[in-house]
Amino acid sequence: MPITYHEWGDPNVALRTAAALGSDEVQVWLARLPAAEAGMAGLTGLLGRDERERAERYRADEARQHFVFGRALLRLLLAACLNVEPAALEFAYQPHGKPILVFPHPEENPRFNLSHSGGLLAIALARGRDVGIDIESMGAEAPDWLPLAARVFSPRELGELTALPAPHLQRRAFFTGWTRKEAYLKATGEGLIDALEAIEVTLTPGQAPALLKLPASARPPREWSIRDIPMPPDFAGAVVYSSFITT
Ligand SMILES: CC(C)(COP(=O)(O)OP(=O)(O)OC[C@H]1O[C@@H](n2cnc3c(N)ncnc32)[C@H](O)[C@@H]1OP(=O)(O)O)[C@@H](O)C(=O)NCCC(=O)NCCS
Repeated sequence: MPITYHEWGDPNVALRTAAALGSDEVQVWLARLPAAEAGMAGLTGLLGRDERERAERYRADEARQHFVFGRALLRLLLAACLNVEPAALEFAYQPHGKPILVFPHPEENPRFNLSHSGGLLAIALARGRDVGIDIESMGAEAPDWLPLAARVFSPRELGELTALPAPHLQRRAFFTGWTRKEAYLKATGEGLIDALEAIEVTLTPGQAPALLKLPASARPPREWSIRDIPMPPDFAGAVVYSSFITT
């Protein structure tokens, strides 16, 4: 199945591309947050009332900007897919918080997921199949990864990571593994779970992305596809999509 990568530049080109989203395609969009507050002008007006209220509750400017920018671009892309006005879209939330569209014809419903980190936004779009996306900045604002590794990875993955000969390779492996696991968990909608080591992924830099092991209760790995996202140097990113069609 083709997966296509796009950068948000000229909005007209972006919206035409999103409108042409095929049933056998996954589109991945990357956009950089505007550097100045002025670049955000007009975006809040695209949001629903509950989203505007949520935006007001963010204390940190950066988190608020990430949220508003993400929801505004998401609405623009989905509205182009459905040929409706962005503000007319309505979202519902699955039990663990995954947003989905409320739409009278679920089988036509574009599926989506978004992720933001370090001033970048990523959105995945597909029709009728589950998608999950995760990007992480590995820059100065990134979490201190070493103490997290034992919580996130299985003994096998931890062994693979610590066997890498240089700190920068271990760091890259950590964020590669993290984003691959989280993209899968966002595709299923589970979000953060306790038993993260029940999921195993490849993480050695240069190794093809793969879901090696999933919890016994989950659909088997062959029913999912995983891809790395071409990212700027100090970022990692992955997208996961289902091969089964969901309604
Ligand atoms: C919400 C969560 C799914 C991801 O959070 P995150 O990595 O901090 O944030 P991201 O930017 O990648 O994703 C957030 C977006 O995912 C979507 N989302 C929220 N809950 C979701 C869920 N259960 N499943 C899929 N997508 C979800 C939302 O669109 C949200 O953004 P918005 O509220 O601005 O629209 C959650 O699992 C979490 O809090 N994770 C913490 C990170 C962690 O410890 N990960 C372990 C690594 S293996």
